[in-house]
Order: sequence, then structure tokens, then C-alpha cells
Amino acid sequence: MLYPLMTATREVFDLSGIWQFRLDPGQGLAERWYERPLRQSVPMPVPASYNELGEEAAYREHVGRVWYERELIIPRRLWGQRLVLRFGAVAHTAHVYLNGQPLITHRGGFTPFEAEITALAQPGKNRLTVLVDNTLDYSTLPVAHYREEPLPDGTRLISDTPNFDFFNYAGIHRPVRLYTTPATYIRDIVLTSTLAEGDGLVGYRIAVEGAERETVTVRVTLLDAEGRTVAAGEGTQGQLRIKDVHLWEPGHPYLYTCRVELWRPGETSECLDSYEEPYGVRTVAVEDGQFLLNGKPFYFKGCGKHEDFPVHGRGFDEAVYVKDLSLLRWLGANSFRTSHYPYAEEVMRLADRLGLVVIDEVPAVGLHLNLSPSAGPSKRQTWRELTTAAQHEQALRELIARDKNHACVVMWSIANEPATEEEGARAYFEPLLHLARQLDPQRRPLTIALQMLATPATDTVTDLLDVIALNRYYGWYVHGGRLEAAQALLRAELEAWRQRLPGKPILLSEYGADAIAGLHDEPPTMFSEEYQAALLQAYHEVLDACPAVIGEHVWNFADFQTGQSITRVQGNRKGIFTRERRPKLAAHLLRKRWRAIPDFGYKAGK
Ligand code: GCU
Repeated sequence: MLYPLMTATREVFDLSGIWQFRLDPGQGLAERWYERPLRQSVPMPVPASYNELGEEAAYREHVGRVWYERELIIPRRLWGQRLVLRFGAVAHTAHVYLNGQPLITHRGGFTPFEAEITALAQPGKNRLTVLVDNTLDYSTLPVAHYREEPLPDGTRLISDTPNFDFFNYAGIHRPVRLYTTPATYIRDIVLTSTLAEGDGLVGYRIAVEGAERETVTVRVTLLDAEGRTVAAGEGTQGQLRIKDVHLWEPGHPYLYTCRVELWRPGETSECLDSYEEPYGVRTVAVEDGQFLLNGKPFYFKGCGKHEDFPVHGRGFDEAVYVKDLSLLRWLGANSFRTSHYPYAEEVMRLADRLGLVVIDEVPAVGLHLNLSPSAGPSKRQTWRELTTAAQHEQALRELIARDKNHACVVMWSIANEPATEEEGARAYFEPLLHLARQLDPQRRPLTIALQMLATPATDTVTDLLDVIALNRYYGWYVHGGRLEAAQALLRAELEAWRQRLPGKPILLSEYGADAIAGLHDEPPTMFSEEYQAALLQAYHEVLDACPAVIGEHVWNFADFQTGQSITRVQGNRKGIFTRERRPKLAAHLLRKRWRAIPDFGYKAGK
């Protein structure tokens, strides 16, 4: 799915701003609120989560539906163009209406969706209505415990408790755009690359739609960073050779531009449709226990993150993500994981430009019914009770379709902390892993971030993966305060994985401790900044001594909001920055360590 871009043949109109909004106690659909302008509405910014934008608890703790509405003006001059309405992401289910007519429904809160409105829209004023449902359950990604319980007063308590450790923000979270294309247009561009004696071989496939799709000439041109043509070809698929190619990698994020044009035969005046896709030429492979980027052993230094900030919650915020990626570079980091869901397209485009490597994760989190305290005494049968397979497949299809051309994306994370030690896990994941390998034209490596019950002795899926990713909290959830025990347990487990799956590289995808900023103690004690730093240091000693470890991602980049719980002090405090992005002691420790670790060859010869 192409990112909406203004080109010589396309226009984009951003519909961000203040929309009308109304919480729906439940009767909105029955009363067909979409058939007339929204009543009893309040102003609501788009993009943003709505949860912190009202002072009543009803906003923060709302479960179910809300309504958004705005006027959509279509200038007469656009008539005759193909008109498309595109949503960057709506959490978690969206029903879109235009002038009271149903337009599109989309399930999944972290990937874009679009609908052509050429036939439904009218010149001038249109009414755009979006019904957003934040309900999560055992069929959705992420997974939550949806319950309706009778109360003594005859009412029903509806609760939707996240089975994951972040606040279930909801709303129209990413930009909504109206964009135009000509009637015959470029629908998709698929790019792959290999290297040959210092040259880059770029394979391309172009999908064209519209009445003239069989007669137009497709021209593909590769331009270098100075805008000079370095290769060109025709046809809907082919391969172009870039002499002495500049490779994309951290520290050298060289981007070419792939320009695609549709021309009517014989016409040389102006092209019918054009689109430009930034593209970095690089190779990724896992071989001999190493993660190779452009054939060199890469060492991941970075963090798991969240899209999270006060007031707008999970809403798209250019200033915040520019700040975050800048801080990652300040740390000397070279990578991050999009924990636990796909991040905005704009983040991925910036990571390409900055040379930050990304592990791209689908929102498959909460797929374990025996992890959280609310699991209860009896052992649950996770893979019998969850019905997430269909949504999981859709999430994979949409993420790979969206991010397939990004040089920054080097690996797909198929899930975070699923019950891979339980009966049924392998049968659940095998088809999904096969699908991911089929869908990705670049055949990137796959991983799953494993929780602590998935050990070398109990895990049933990781032999199917390319990289072992471990979320480990020895010294926090296990033997809290006891760092020497933490080191012994971590060292032993890494060795056990090496023996269980020799030659498979290990990424420590999560490790860390909560630290309340400003809380200090000597000797270090839990929740102090000193303890957080000491735990990271203790882990680093073990990781440096283990050749199979190909990277370290601290949990988390910044403090972030969670649901209310006795174990969360206004959210999760494992950030190495506060929620407002102020550095804790640990940030300085990591900056010192990571600026001294090279991106490539760190463990060579160890
Ligand atoms: C888990 C999980 C995170 C969570 C973290 C924690 O590993 O992947 O989402 O925030 O532990 O408990 O802090």
C-alpha cells in the first residue's frame, strides 16, 4: 500500500484538525447517528487518543463506541480524478460513513486502510462520520479480557481488561487524508535488491489499475541522492543495475529514489501518473549465528518503545517521534523494535532517512492466558481459548504490504510474549510464519519475543524462527534486588539456548527495571535510578561474554502509560527516559556503552 504523496499527478489533503466527537453509551448504531449531523458533540483533535481529552473518567475508561464527524469539502476542480479517503490508523475498529452511507469497515488499530469515494462523494460539502470501537477480546489483536458482569443494583459492569502492559488508548490515532490519483494509476510498487560485484541489482514489480492499465507504458527510473538517473527500465516488472551502488546501513543511510511513471503510447508531453518511492539498497541475512547487514555482522543496540505521550496518548505526534529518534541517536543506539504494534508510517520513513534499524512487530500481544496475575489459579488453555488467528493473519498481511520496501525494516516480530510453551502454540504459529515468509518479497528474518516461561526446555516454536528474542527480567520479576543471582540465571539460560539451538543468534529483546525518576539510593535498591543502571550493567557483563548474543534492546525507551494497577505507579517506569523524555541515570550509562560499541563486528573473534 503506497504512502499518500503529492506528485505532479496526485494531490493530498490532510484532514487533521478539530472534529466533532461524542461518546456512545450504546444506542448510537440503533439510532443511526450516522444519518444526520452528530448531536451533543464536543470538539476532538484528530489525530489523537480521546482518553485523556475529557475530564470525566468516562473518557479514560470508556469501553465500546465513540463517534467522530467532520465536514469534507471537495473542490470542483478535483472532479474526474479518482478520490480516495485514507486512514493512517484507527484503534481498534472503524466504521466509516460518507453522507450517511456506509463506506468501509476496518478491524485493527495500527495499519492504514482506504476507500475510493469517487462515486459516493459530491462536489462541495460532504459529511464524514467515523464510528470507532475500542473493544478488545479473545479474537482481536491485542488481546483483552472483555467481561459483562451483573452488579447487585441490577446494572451490568462492562470491563475490558488489557492482557498487555500498556494503556488501551483509542481513537483516530494517525492522519486521515483525502488523496487523488488519475483514473488509471500506480497501485503498488515492490522493490527487492541483491548485490553483484559492487553493483546493486534492484528488482521491481509495478501494479497498475484503471481502464488504460493494459495500454500504458510503465517507466521505472532510479535516481541517486543528487537526483541523477543511475538506471532506468520499462514494463511492470524487471531488474535494474546500479553501478558501484551506495549501500544503506546505519551511519550511511543512502537512499535512492525509485520514480515510476505511466505514459500513454506515443505521448511525450506529460505522464499519466507518477509516484516516487525512497529506497535503500541493502541485504539482510542470518548465517553462522550472525545477523548480517550488507554481509557484515550487525549488533543491535537500542530499545523497545511505545507510541505514548501525555495528553494525546497514542496519537501521531511528529515532534515526539522526531525527538525519540534523535534521542536514540544521542544514546548511540542503532535500532528499535516497534513494540508492540506497527508504528506510524512517518516513523518508518524517518528511520530510513536516519539509518535506524527496525524490528517491525504486529500487534500480537497478550496471547498468553497464564502470565498475568488476573489469570487466576486454574491453568488456562491459551490456544484453545484465543481465536486470534484470522486477525493475526490480517495484521501480518497489512504490515508487510505497508512496510515491505523499507530498508530500515530488517526483521518481522510475529508476536510479543505468546504462550509458546503451551500445547497448540506450534500449530498456531507454523502457518503464520509460513505466510510471513511468503508475503515478504525481501524474505526478511522472523522472530518472536519470548516471555520467561518459554525456556529452552519448554518453548515449542523458536526452532522455526531465525533469531531467538528473549524478554528477560531476572533481578526484577525474578529475584528482585539480587543482581548476582540475575547474572547467574541469565548466563545459564543463554548457554542452554545455545545448546538447544546451536548457531541461532540471540537478541535480548527486553531487559530492564522500573526507576522512579529522582529516586536515588546507595547501595542501589529497586525503583531507584541507581538500581536500574546497575541491573543494565549486570546484564551487559553477561551479554558481552556470550558470542551467540547479537544485540540488546532495553525495556523501555521511556516511561509509558498503562492501565491502573497496584504494580504500576501512574504507568510503567522502566523507561531510561521519563515520559517527558528527560534522561535517567541509565540513559547516561547506555550512551557511554553504546557509543563505544561498533554497529558491525562487535563480537568478531570473541
Ligand atoms: C513484558 C512485556 C512488556 C512489559 C514488560 C514489563 O516483557 O513485553 O510489554 O511492559 O514486560 O513488565 O515492564
